[in-house]
Amino acid sequence: MSRTVYYTATTLDGFLADEHDSLDWLLSQDIDERGAMNYEDFYAGIGALAMGATTYEWVREHLASTGEQWAYDVPSWVFTHRDLPVVGERTRLTSAPVEQVHAAMLEAAGDRDLWIVGGGDLAGQFADRGLLDEVVVSIAPVTLGFGRLLLPRALDLRLVEHDRNRAFLCARYEVVGPR
Ligand SMILES: NC(=O)c1ccc[n+]([C@@H]2O[C@H](COP(=O)([O-])OP(=O)(O)OC[C@H]3O[C@@H](n4cnc5c(N)ncnc54)[C@H](OP(=O)(O)O)[C@@H]3O)[C@@H](O)[C@H]2O)c1
Repeated sequence: MSRTVYYTATTLDGFLADEHDSLDWLLSQDIDERGAMNYEDFYAGIGALAMGATTYEWVREHLASTGEQWAYDVPSWVFTHRDLPVVGERTRLTSAPVEQVHAAMLEAAGDRDLWIVGGGDLAGQFADRGLLDEVVVSIAPVTLGFGRLLLPRALDLRLVEHDRNRAFLCARYEVVGPR
C-alpha cells in the first residue's frame, strides 16, 4: 500500500531554507549519494509527487541557471494559485483541495509511494487531513535561526529508523497524529 512521505533535508533547528529561500547551507554538506537513506533509493520507490509553488520556483530557477532538465519522471502536482510556466512533461499546476489531489496521486502512483517535496506548510496541509504517513529527514549540522519552517504543525511522531550519512543524521518517523 502506498505511503505518503515527506522526505527532505533540514537544518538542526528545523528550517528547509533560509529567509531568502537559499539552500547554500545544504549544498555545501558532505553526503554519500549511495549512503544511508539516500535520495536515489528513496526516489526509486516514488510513484507521484507534490510540491508548493515556492519550491517549484526554486527548482525552475535552478534549472535555468544550470541548464539541467526537470529531474522528475513521475506525475507531479504543483500547488499554486498562479498560472506559472510548466516544466516537465508530467507536471500539472493545481489549486484543488488537498484530499482531491492526494486521491489523484494515489491513483497515479500504483503501488509506489507519494512524495511530498515541501514546503513545510504543504506537508502540514496533508497532515491536517490525516494524509501524511511518514516524515523522513536528513538533518544537516547547521542552525540558521530563522527561515522556512520544516513542519509548522503540532504532531506526535514515532521514530522508526535512524542512521548517519557523513555530515547528516537521517531519521524516519511515522506520523502518529495531531498533538
Ligand atoms: N531542504 C530541502 O530539502 C527543501 C525541500 C523542499 C523545499 N525547500 C525550500 O523550502 C522553501 C519552502 O517554501 P515555502 O515554505 O514558501 O513553501 P512551498 O510549499 O514551496 O510554497 C508555498 C506556496 O505554494 C502554494 N500553495 C501552498 N498550498 C497551496 C494550496 N493548498 N493550494 C494552492 N496553492 C498552494 C502557494 O503559492 P501561490 O502563491 O502561487 O498560490 C504558496 O505561497 C523553498 O525555498 C524551497 O526551495 C527545501
